[in-house]
Amino acid sequence: MRITDTSDLWWKSAVIYCLDVETFLDADGDGIGDLEGLAQRIDYLADLGITCLWLMPFYPSPDRDDGYDIKDYLSVDERLGDLGRMVEILRLAHDRGLRVIADLVVNHTSDQHPWFRRSRAEKDPAKNPYRDYYVWRADEPGDTSAQVVFPDQEDSIWTKDDKTGEWYLHHFYRHQPDLNLDHPEVVAELLRAVGFWLELGFDGFRVDGVPFFAQGPGKEGGDDLVDPHAFMKQLRDFVQLRRGDAVTLGEVNLAHEDQLAFFGGDAADEFHMQFDFIGMQATYLSMARQDARPLATALQERPELHRTNQWATFLRNHDELTLDKLSDAERQEVFDAFGPEERMQVYGRGLKRRLPTMMGGEPRRLRMAYSLLFSLPGTPTLYYGEEIGMGEDLAAEGRMAVRTPMQWSATKNGGFSSARPSRLVQPVVGDGYGPEHVNVMDQLHDPDSLLSWIRTLIRIRHACPELGWGELEILEHDAGPAVLAHRLSLESTAVVAVHNLGADPVTVTVPTHGFGGDPRVVDLVTHDVLAAPGTEVPCALEGYGVRWLRVRPTGDLAVP
Ligand code: GLC
Repeated sequence: MRITDTSDLWWKSAVIYCLDVETFLDADGDGIGDLEGLAQRIDYLADLGITCLWLMPFYPSPDRDDGYDIKDYLSVDERLGDLGRMVEILRLAHDRGLRVIADLVVNHTSDQHPWFRRSRAEKDPAKNPYRDYYVWRADEPGDTSAQVVFPDQEDSIWTKDDKTGEWYLHHFYRHQPDLNLDHPEVVAELLRAVGFWLELGFDGFRVDGVPFFAQGPGKEGGDDLVDPHAFMKQLRDFVQLRRGDAVTLGEVNLAHEDQLAFFGGDAADEFHMQFDFIGMQATYLSMARQDARPLATALQERPELHRTNQWATFLRNHDELTLDKLSDAERQEVFDAFGPEERMQVYGRGLKRRLPTMMGGEPRRLRMAYSLLFSLPGTPTLYYGEEIGMGEDLAAEGRMAVRTPMQWSATKNGGFSSARPSRLVQPVVGDGYGPEHVNVMDQLHDPDSLLSWIRTLIRIRHACPELGWGELEILEHDAGPAVLAHRLSLESTAVVAVHNLGADPVTVTVPTHGFGGDPRVVDLVTHDVLAAPGTEVPCALEGYGVRWLRVRPTGDLAVP
């Protein structure tokens, strides 16, 4: 690896930040966040240190699935702004060194999309060129309730359309008909949209709902399954032709071997990146048990990736905190530890909460969790508000619990909007996690705040390419199962991170072998240079304590 590779393959050492424009900052006072507001906060994001902004869907939408129901792929929802404002965001972000990626929802559209309106008008494809843009069947589908994504809202993945008496496929809500990704015209339309946003200046896409691309036209589960890889290869190829350094990041919550296939295997010709859902769920299981082994196992079982590929790591996103890859007993352990009440859970598989409440308001544990996230091999992804420890609104419906307005200050509406509270797109979180207690302003200049801690972690990421590129080794130690000690080695240097997932203090002896007899060891948080005679460093950790060390041979001139 050469240092210049880190710019060519920028996503391998990025820090991603996800936000929804409508809940970030409202500049025009109508209660809905907008692009003008986001423009005001690009410097905040640059100062935080993130390098890539992921914008949740901003397209025109009836907004019945928070914008994931798109009715026009080539425009901006007028509540948020317009294309001119979007270009301003891209200009500003690029000027500050930030890249911007867009959510790309190709599995389905809104039922308000003109393609669907035309599709349902006439059932004979010979007369209706739009009929096969979606997936229709003439016969009764039978019971498909086990396949729905939102079991509290839908009981079938097929809905009968009165207009033609046929059923259309929808894995998500019935107002989100699945596109037929096997149809050349559909693919061409979608790629046209991809090309449009790339030309405008976007740096890539987060691709939504990938596991559902594999549907059969007409007959779900039949022999005629759409090959999702064929679509992905076309998407990747097109993106690559138009913008060689644009990235594709897949939401592919599948088993490792299936994820490997969506990276394109050895050919690496599908996604550049995918979220590590398995690692995320193992992290929660480890934290619940105060036992690092499930996480260590998940990390060790990750398939080896092509050098251009990367995992995107995360602890929270805009959806339910899914625990679907754990066994029933494991999921119950996480529920018991972090969301024991039914109102904290959703879809029988996930949690509605954000981290601070799950960690019982225990600041050291919260910091440990984020430190752990930033120490894992991969590219860390933050969801807005995590950096200040925002809580959730359990009274909000399902996943909306974590989609509350960003809390900028202790003033009205948390500084999000000047509108009357009743006009806000979502109510601001109240009580102990409300803006009086949790906001950016208070934390910005407080060196002991969570925000300052997250900035420190991001600073470390920027200083240490080992974290995005290094080879992982889980270190043996004798401090008990609560401690994860791992090393990421890259050529002559390494980062060693030690995390105590337990509440009791421990002392860990960290091996520093392989760097000559007297390596140089720097504490990456305090900047202390440690004496490391021999090949080990003793680390005393408090309950939920962490330690970050950089190890290199003496005489190596790299900084720090
Ligand atoms: C993805 C998104 C989720 C959305 C769904 C349907 O899972 O993360 O928010 O509702 O796709 O587009």
